[in-house]
Amino acid sequence: MNGNTFLVAGVCLLLFACGAGNGVPDKPTFNKHVAPLMFKHCTPCHREGGVAPFSLINYEQTKRKAKTIAKVTEKRYMPPWPADASYTHFVGENFLSDQEIAVFRRWYETGMTEGAAEDLPRYEPPTWRSQIGKPDMVLPLDSVRLFPNLKDRFFIIKIPGMLDRDTWVRAVEFVAGNQDLVHHFNGHLLLYKPGANRNLFQQPMKVEVSSGEYKTDFKVLNLFNNDGSIPERVHSAVNYLPGVLGTAYPAGLGTFRISREFAFVGNDMHYGPADRLATDRSYLNLFFSNKPPSRPVAEIMLGTNGVSPIVPPLKIAPGKVQTHSTRFRIDKDISVLTINPHLHLLGKSFLAYAIKPNGDTIRLIRISRWDFRWQYFYTFQKMVHIPAGSEIIAEAVFDNTDRNPNNPNQPPKEVGERLDYGGASMRATDEMFQFIITYTLYQPGDENFSLEPDKSR
Ligand code: HEC
Repeated sequence: MNGNTFLVAGVCLLLFACGAGNGVPDKPTFNKHVAPLMFKHCTPCHREGGVAPFSLINYEQTKRKAKTIAKVTEKRYMPPWPADASYTHFVGENFLSDQEIAVFRRWYETGMTEGAAEDLPRYEPPTWRSQIGKPDMVLPLDSVRLFPNLKDRFFIIKIPGMLDRDTWVRAVEFVAGNQDLVHHFNGHLLLYKPGANRNLFQQPMKVEVSSGEYKTDFKVLNLFNNDGSIPERVHSAVNYLPGVLGTAYPAGLGTFRISREFAFVGNDMHYGPADRLATDRSYLNLFFSNKPPSRPVAEIMLGTNGVSPIVPPLKIAPGKVQTHSTRFRIDKDISVLTINPHLHLLGKSFLAYAIKPNGDTIRLIRISRWDFRWQYFYTFQKMVHIPAGSEIIAEAVFDNTDRNPNNPNQPPKEVGERLDYGGASMRATDEMFQFIITYTLYQPGDENFSLEPDKSR
């Protein structure tokens, strides 16, 4: 090493982003260096049928966006992963190392070389739309026409289905047809005995309701058994919020039985205001299992409409940045599988943890830059044991100033919760603070129970 190289290497160490010291090739090629990053971190969404608005699966498409890609990866805007990976880790977490980010920048600045054909890794984009995998059954919802009336619209939707025998289901995934307009879907599953509801497949499949009307209209949708009784029900078998990715647990966990004749009923399918004519055709993906249900999965919801009050109550004064918290003591040993922090547009940051009876802290999640577009259900890599007597604490910061670019009110207005309603509202006047915990009752050894997807089903 001569004196000059030594000097350059020293400067590189200081600047960190410089190539020579950190393993970034001088002239990266698409086929060898960029494509493997794209296929791992970007094409799950940026492909035909993915949730992103354009594909990035080949050289031409990636080259066209190279400048923006360098920018959005440096800002850590893409890939979207709001959770702080220095706090806790989750299944499917997706973020780039500083070195990987530098590869995108260097590739753009050195002229976006394609590289040798034999360097390109094989990639077959999936043809189905799912974040979980290839569905075993796809059930379309009745399509909905949306008009440019700039109003929220709400529907109760029935999605009936038939199988040739009772089957175990390990996951149900809602896929939004029109991702800009579908804001929320919460579906329960109704299980019928064969012939118990002879009208199940008859119209109507949906009814429009006004916001605030929360009860399922069983009668209009023909959802009762023929004898007038209410069918067996699996509560919240499928949920959707913008940016939510489907989850499937391994080893029969959370698996449930689905009868030959069944129906999903979405008790509030919520569309945001449309500014043009649009049609939505959303659907459900069903994933079957050949493992019988092992342990039931349940949910605790803190905050808005949940088991614990928000302190101070969620009223956010205009021009203010406010912190609110909610805490709940659990009276049994639980093993946490998945958590879902939920705020609306004024959200700024989110933190959740548990304090054990002995005073130790169990980290759950930290989101330093809240982004309402990515409301993942975060699945832990291994179950997290929270012992009985622990207190679960969630803290959220809301920014109701005009410096918050997502503030729907300019100038800012007082914003609060709406408790008469299921909490799905995204109206500009409504804010929410929820923390949903999906768990199973603790069994010894759960600390080592991996929640990574089970390829054998
Ligand atoms: C979880 C899904 C998902 C993943 C993974 C993902 N994107 Fe995106 N991307 C989106 C969506 C949705 C949009 C459009 C909405 C937006 O801009 O926020 C987008 C927008 C973009 C844009 C346009 C931004 C702009 O300001 O115009 C670029 C460029 C981009 N993504 C690049 C990438 C790259 C590069 C990766 C991988 C390193 C990646 N994305 C990973 C979903 C994703």
